[in-house]
Amino acid sequence: MSEQSIGIFDSGVGGTSIWKEIHKLLPNENTMYLADSKNAPYGSKGKDAIIELSIKNTEYLLNKNCKLIVVACNTATTNAIDYLRETYQVPFIGIEPAIKPAALKTKTNAIGILATKGTLSSALFSKTSSLFTSNISVIEQVGEGIVELIESGQLDSDDMKDLLRVYLKPMIDAQIDYLVLGCTHYPYLIPLLINLLPKHVKIIDSGEAVARQTKTILEKNNLLNTDDLRSKSLFYINKKVDVMQSLLGSKFEVDYLDF
Ligand code: DGL
Repeated sequence: MSEQSIGIFDSGVGGTSIWKEIHKLLPNENTMYLADSKNAPYGSKGKDAIIELSIKNTEYLLNKNCKLIVVACNTATTNAIDYLRETYQVPFIGIEPAIKPAALKTKTNAIGILATKGTLSSALFSKTSSLFTSNISVIEQVGEGIVELIESGQLDSDDMKDLLRVYLKPMIDAQIDYLVLGCTHYPYLIPLLINLLPKHVKIIDSGEAVARQTKTILEKNNLLNTDDLRSKSLFYINKKVDVMQSLLGSKFEVDYLDF
């Protein structure tokens, strides 16, 4: 059982930021990653469409015998994880914008959240946000167009810088001291964001927390891989492989798969 893979999916290449944290913390674990780039972005789709795509990805991973599924996508988590947990037996780990630590730590009483429309408009996000942010101001910003630019390899392009400047301006004007990254594609923008934000603004993403939670749930369910052999990391994408390949480096191979 424990040698079975951890299944991970995202609407595209962004969830590799989560895979990296999982691989760092759990190097013994075999993993299988699905990038559904053919259907990206999920963030502009409705809840039913996001659930349907999440079912497709989950069933592919379960047919490959995965022991646990990481939904490495805020948009799919906030719209579909309840359905997935009710429907399938395996444990699911999701990712949500880390509003709580930002809300607890802010000194300026203003935090910014950059996420997709699908995440910001979800009931799960509203619920979490209302629990922790009643006394502070929260500048929410839809990152329209960012996922598409990352998927096409334009991480550091002028178009990306222009978009980010526009999206960050209201947050900087409101004097945020924390920026929460609510999309797994966005950690790849951290070098750019550091340059565009005032020095005192801290950036929070949930990658490490997801990896820790994955470990806890594997331990609880007696699913950790105790085998010492080198682990296998499989990456599949249903569009061109080049952008994902460059995000992962030459040590890992990305394959095209029509799922
Ligand atoms: N990585 C996905 C997320 O975390 C991007 C969603 C999209 O495809 O719009 O929300």
